[in-house]
Amino acid sequence: MRILSGVQPSGELHLGNYFGAIQQHLALQDQGDAFYFIADYHSLTSLHDAKRLQHLTREVAAAYLALGLDPERATFFRQSDVPEVHELTWMLECVTGMGLLQRATSYKDKVARGLKPNVGLFTYPALMAADILIYRSNLVPVGADQVQHIEIAQDMAASFNHAFNTDVLLRPEFRLSKTPKVPGVDGQKMSKSYGNTIPIFAKGKALKKAVNQVVTDSKDPKTEPLDPETCNAFAIFALFADEAEQAELAQRYREDRTFPGYGVTKKRIVELMNEHFGPARERFEALMQPGSELEGVLRAGAARAREVAQETVAHCREATGLGPMLG
Ligand code: ADP
Ligand code: TRP
Repeated sequence: MRILSGVQPSGELHLGNYFGAIQQHLALQDQGDAFYFIADYHSLTSLHDAKRLQHLTREVAAAYLALGLDPERATFFRQSDVPEVHELTWMLECVTGMGLLQRATSYKDKVARGLKPNVGLFTYPALMAADILIYRSNLVPVGADQVQHIEIAQDMAASFNHAFNTDVLLRPEFRLSKTPKVPGVDGQKMSKSYGNTIPIFAKGKALKKAVNQVVTDSKDPKTEPLDPETCNAFAIFALFADEAEQAELAQRYREDRTFPGYGVTKKRIVELMNEHFGPARERFEALMQPGSELEGVLRAGAARAREVAQETVAHCREATGLGPMLG
């Protein structure tokens, strides 16, 4: 079984990326032939700063390795090291009606939030479909916001196969984690594009500052019960705490009228994050140093990925009548 997913290098990795996507990616390394990549082409839809793109690409690579990606088991590469993906994107676009992309909610949401859209942002799901289909992926582990994009990939694969009377493209399925929609500090979906994130490798004052920004209600614990179900800080705490600790804090929220307030929850989030990410953060910092193994890992991954991609594109060229490339 081929497992595939990508993460954009468009900002610091955050709790949503980790609990929605990265944690599943790492766990699935043993369940099949895993391909994970850094979606740098996709980042160009929002990021126009060469130095920053390079830096963020290194950061995503270092983060995956620090968190436990094993390049022996998983193929790990940069999307832009396999330019064949654009050839397949084009072929898919030519069998896709405008309506399919016009219905994409993530595009509509970004525009509604005031982002000025470029054509790349509009056609983004076609590139993502090509990412998935070119590696003949069966399973795509992602957060909830990406599900519609995988359904678009399913539709595009079916349209292509139907149009050219072939079965070369496989139907991919999505897979969600237990926490497919992690809230940001403002209670909306945590996202790099919404400026409401808690970065996984933040530390010291910066970590405290990010956690303190978590918005909570103004209930007075001395006079009324607090509600763990609707508390944003509690939801973030629950990502890390085991069930016993969650039950204990939930009970204090509801029954303890001497409970000092949400500061307690936030302080505990900081402690739990330090425990959970502390060791990986140190490895991350070492991997970010010049001359670390990052480049070698990405190079080897790209070579493996490209071989698979070239084979799929060759089949697709044949199916469409474009024919083989002249050597
Ligand atoms: P962002 O929305 O911050 O730009 P990406 O689009 O690069 O993040 O997402 C990378 C992966 O992380 C995707 O699989 C996405 O579904 C997942 N993800 C992002 N934000 C969240 C979230 N708040 N909760 C769960 N998963 C998320
Ligand atoms: N669009 C995804 C995101 O923003 C990143 C991505 C690009 C991806 N290509 C993919 C995810 C293919 C899964 C499969 O999160």
